[in-house]
Amino acid sequence: MERDTILILDFGGQYKQLIARRVRECQVYCEILPYTTSLQTLKSMNPKGIILTGGPNSVYDPASPTCDAELFSLGIPILGICYGSQLMAYIPGGAVQPADVSEYGRTELFIDAPDSPLFKGVPARTVCWMSHTDRITTVPDGFRVTAHSENCPVAAMEDAARRLYAVQFHPEVEHTPEGTDMLRHFVRDVCGCRGDWRMSSFIEEQIPAIQERVGSGRVLLALSGGVDSSVTAALLSRAIGKQLVCVFVDHGLMRKNEGEQVKAIFGPEGGFDLNYVHVDAKDRFYTALKDVADPERKRRIIGEQFIRVFEETARGLGAVDYLAQGTIYPDVVESGAGSGGATIKSHHNVGGLPENVGFLGIVEPLRTLFKDEVRALGTELGLPRALVYRQPFPGPGLGVRIMGAITPEKVRIVQEADAIFQEELVRFGIDTGKGQFFAALSDMRSVGVMGDHRTYDCAIVLRAVLTSDFMTATAARLPYELLETCMNRIVNEVSGVNRVLYDITSKPPATIEWE
Ligand code: XMP
Repeated sequence: MERDTILILDFGGQYKQLIARRVRECQVYCEILPYTTSLQTLKSMNPKGIILTGGPNSVYDPASPTCDAELFSLGIPILGICYGSQLMAYIPGGAVQPADVSEYGRTELFIDAPDSPLFKGVPARTVCWMSHTDRITTVPDGFRVTAHSENCPVAAMEDAARRLYAVQFHPEVEHTPEGTDMLRHFVRDVCGCRGDWRMSSFIEEQIPAIQERVGSGRVLLALSGGVDSSVTAALLSRAIGKQLVCVFVDHGLMRKNEGEQVKAIFGPEGGFDLNYVHVDAKDRFYTALKDVADPERKRRIIGEQFIRVFEETARGLGAVDYLAQGTIYPDVVESGAGSGGATIKSHHNVGGLPENVGFLGIVEPLRTLFKDEVRALGTELGLPRALVYRQPFPGPGLGVRIMGAITPEKVRIVQEADAIFQEELVRFGIDTGKGQFFAALSDMRSVGVMGDHRTYDCAIVLRAVLTSDFMTATAARLPYELLETCMNRIVNEVSGVNRVLYDITSKPPATIEWE
């Protein structure tokens, strides 16, 4: 039976991935395509429905992204969101004009057509998230207005006969509390999707796609021991077995005992069908990083060394055709690779290989997934729960948790302190699955007193953030006793530390990591 597919046409809106995520939460498969995708391609994909995203432009500007008028007469249900709703009004002959007052943020929404399938069960007065200056002033022939807000006479409209629906607001964001229901009504009730897409379906789709992409080629994966690369390894192992070579590079920036744990799961004793190679490159990384304090330079060096180690390992292994990476969607966004947004950090594991590297390309099967989806996938693939729910660990490892120049001594300090923090988190029963909890090493040294001696030692920073998407985060309100126990243990057990700080900064303005 053919899979139900919703296509999301991207007009440059910042929330396109959220739309995709919500659709998948309704257990419906979806794909995001550029607005320039031809009608022929769209039709050939046989979608059950199409969603038009928002975007920053004005529909009446001739240079703005647009779509073919024929799109609206294909007989395929369409939901236009924000800019997408304005296109649905403007192209078939309605009117869109700049409003006197922009609507931005939480806005009261009045449902005018409670019989609209989109608004089934939605209270007559609810709240939505608006973000627009232009607004629809006249609906095209055949449409009726189904909701309004104070400054937006057409907050929603529809032509039920042609199954065309439009909302000026953003149903995909959390601030529209009934938004997920509205999207569910569209994809399930209007488009008739069965809602049978699961992570197991993702696996079923990815396996042949990976097999087709790599053919009989060999794939080299950087296994870091984190959730993302481990899930990538498990998925690739399922798809291509021994064609997969997992290289675990001990760059000397791992958490305490991490190397052994990775080996136990993916090594010869571990039960996965793959080739596992353990490379000890500690000295090489420490040498390359010697005296380098600038965070971006450190990241670049770690990234470059990684690539080189792979190249060399690959050479030693004979021909390797592809490099696989555990890139997930937040990495893509924050690197500015997905949306054309600003580059916040150069996540070394996104954005292609340096020139003259002898691989055919990169395989990134998790590129469209959010963290919670990656975890669901890992569980589905049979990875141990402790691994799947392990806190994410950045590609550059402790390199982004040590401020200033990296030395083996600093690595030891942060490893020991982090291990104590993790132990106490478990002992106090803290659920670390909802964020990231770790120790970082500041580049501050200060005077202290231990016994009768003056000390001039480092300050360890404990960082605990709650987040689901890792794009925004708030500091966890950890029990004071836990913090106090950690402080006591760290200053007593980890030589070289005489202060423990707890970072309560949210993201933004801070980032999660300390570098
Ligand atoms: P920040 O510090 O930017 O981190 O708030 C957001 C999330 O990304 C992780 N992170 C990385 N992950 N390669 C990765 O795979 C990287 O270079 C990298 N830098 C940060 C960080 O641990 C957090 O989960």
